[in-house]
Amino acid sequence: MDSRIIIANWKMNGSAEMVANIVPAIVGFKVPGVRSVLCPPAIFLRSVAEMIGSAEVFLGGQNCSTEKSGAFTGEISPEMLGNVGCRYVIIGHSERRQCYFETNGVVGKKFVNAMEAGLIPICCVGETGEERSKGLTREVINGQIDSLFTALGESTSKVNLEFLIAYEPVWAIGTGESASPDLASETHIMIRDRVAQHNAVVAETIKILYGGSVNEKNAGSFFEKGEIGGALIGGASLKPHSFNEIRKLAAGA
Ligand code: PGA
Repeated sequence: MDSRIIIANWKMNGSAEMVANIVPAIVGFKVPGVRSVLCPPAIFLRSVAEMIGSAEVFLGGQNCSTEKSGAFTGEISPEMLGNVGCRYVIIGHSERRQCYFETNGVVGKKFVNAMEAGLIPICCVGETGEERSKGLTREVINGQIDSLFTALGESTSKVNLEFLIAYEPVWAIGTGESASPDLASETHIMIRDRVAQHNAVVAETIKILYGGSVNEKNAGSFFEKGEIGGALIGGASLKPHSFNEIRKLAAGA
């Protein structure tokens, strides 16, 4: 099995003191064969980068601008994220979609902008509870995936497109109610099929991660599913012990 990717999304949590405590506890816990990515608030990226210094743990932004530079007060370009050591950036997290009204079109622009800056986008897709109960899951997720490829335009057929997709059902985020491993796995297969309609080569190799209330108790059951290439972790990533246990489970399965 190809190595899994475990990503910490700290969201708007933490402090300089917390960074000083958590990062060494994660970096010092070696888990060969698992790629770990830390996405702290942007203000802490630089200090986290200085503490990482290990090939096993990578740095990622939580968001980036649709633009390359200019008069966009408060925004951060993907190139700037690269400048401070990021390899990854989360794109289209449901909190960005819901709280900051990011449409599929905006997410698509960020996706292309990130790739052009040499970052690996972690593209979040997922349905709300209401959409699921109305039977709209497939339609919603297909629309989210299609918008990425629409934004790529002519580059859609490139064989070396490097990005990740994180399936994060909105109803499972921060609620303690994760999707079942079977449901996550079925949805991952659906996502891979949709990617294949745009680019068959990318569909064969792309890693699809699950996110939404993953913790050290349930992570192992997700990793038993071959379709699940890793996890995007919110709450549990703020606790080094939990995060490290999840990394260990990802290595063992
Ligand atoms: P959670 O968040 O693990 O706290 O549910 C996941 C996410 O939002 O990426």
